[in-house]
Amino acid sequence: MTLLVRDLAQVATPAGRDAPLRGAALGEVDVLEDAFVLCEGESIAAVGRMRELPPLDGDVVEVDGRGLCAIPGLVDCHTHAAFGGDRVEEFSLRAGGASYEELHARGGGILSTVRATRAAGEDGLRDAVERHRAWMLGHGTTTFEGKSGYGLDRDTELASLRAVRDAGGVPTWLGAHAIPPEFAGDGDAYLDFALAEVLPDAARIAEAADVFLERGAFDAAQARRYLEACRDAGLALRLHGDQFTEQGAIPLAVELGARSVDHLEATGPNGVRALAASDVVGVVLPASALFLGRPMPPARALVDAGAAVALATDFNPGSAFCESLPLCCSLAATQLKLAPAEALAACTVNAAHVLRRADRLGRLAPGYRADIVLLDAPDWRYLAYHLGGRIVAQTVVGGELP
Ligand code: NIG
Ligand code: FE
Repeated sequence: MTLLVRDLAQVATPAGRDAPLRGAALGEVDVLEDAFVLCEGESIAAVGRMRELPPLDGDVVEVDGRGLCAIPGLVDCHTHAAFGGDRVEEFSLRAGGASYEELHARGGGILSTVRATRAAGEDGLRDAVERHRAWMLGHGTTTFEGKSGYGLDRDTELASLRAVRDAGGVPTWLGAHAIPPEFAGDGDAYLDFALAEVLPDAARIAEAADVFLERGAFDAAQARRYLEACRDAGLALRLHGDQFTEQGAIPLAVELGARSVDHLEATGPNGVRALAASDVVGVVLPASALFLGRPMPPARALVDAGAAVALATDFNPGSAFCESLPLCCSLAATQLKLAPAEALAACTVNAAHVLRRADRLGRLAPGYRADIVLLDAPDWRYLAYHLGGRIVAQTVVGGELP
């Protein structure tokens, strides 16, 4: 099928072809006014100004882009989309002053979602991931990563990964998220089980493995053991690190050649320097910091130091019940002091790089996949400017209107 999005107020895309983008290149966005995007099948064939539009023959589906701006489909490289139940009760308690870490220590928090996720069953989990995928798409996310980590038993972990994969997401095995109750606080015994009984099958479904390296979760020695075993099984590596305290996540990630360290709210100057000198992407999750009332990650310092930075939602029921990357772009601009152009590149090109899909995703240019978000705005920077607004008018996914 040929699809022409015409008469757009603007087409905006991260410039160039490189990934990941660092430093000044992160803020370079090409903007065309009075423009079109032409899609052939699943790919973008051409992007240009209306006056340069060549005559088209054959059947062409046309979309009227007047008053709209086109940006690349957004890439959410960090979500926990596979969960049952909710944490609205805990949210209310936190609003009254209870802390996230206290609730976790008392068997609430992540473990309460583990109970609900185990109870959901495979069909329930599939329904949940589909529902979450549709929410994300409504906010312009055309590619999402989804982690397991709320099953923590063999069947529920594998069901979570299948549910993400079958919903079109990129599955990550977060086998080391928390110690499930049947292991009574013995993290090493739990890892013995997870690596022997779950990893061999998880490695056939997932692309990456992830670990929560934090006081009260897994320590650096346990994280190393888990990640090395996952690497040996062929998985790429990611870490939840420096969320509440620095526990050595960045040096470990650099040493093991991980794709990313995510969170970084507690990262100090040494961590910023180490990340900037490495190929590990720093994934910042400002909705999570906002939702928990925590300090924001040092995204400005990371970009200025030359680190590769990506922006994601952390969508999950406990620390970030937020599927909106546009809202994260607003937080990036207002809280992290990133320019709208830097925020855009961080949740397109750099997020696609974390998922090793930046050759096809994250830009509006010939040869890239025809994933397009049409913003209801006269200027593409409304993506960050319109705080919590209904900014997404339409999405195009693989050259089709869903
Ligand atoms: O990325 N920090 C660990 N895991 C999730 C939160 C999980 C939860 O609270 O359910 C996160 O914030
Ligand atoms: Fe997370």
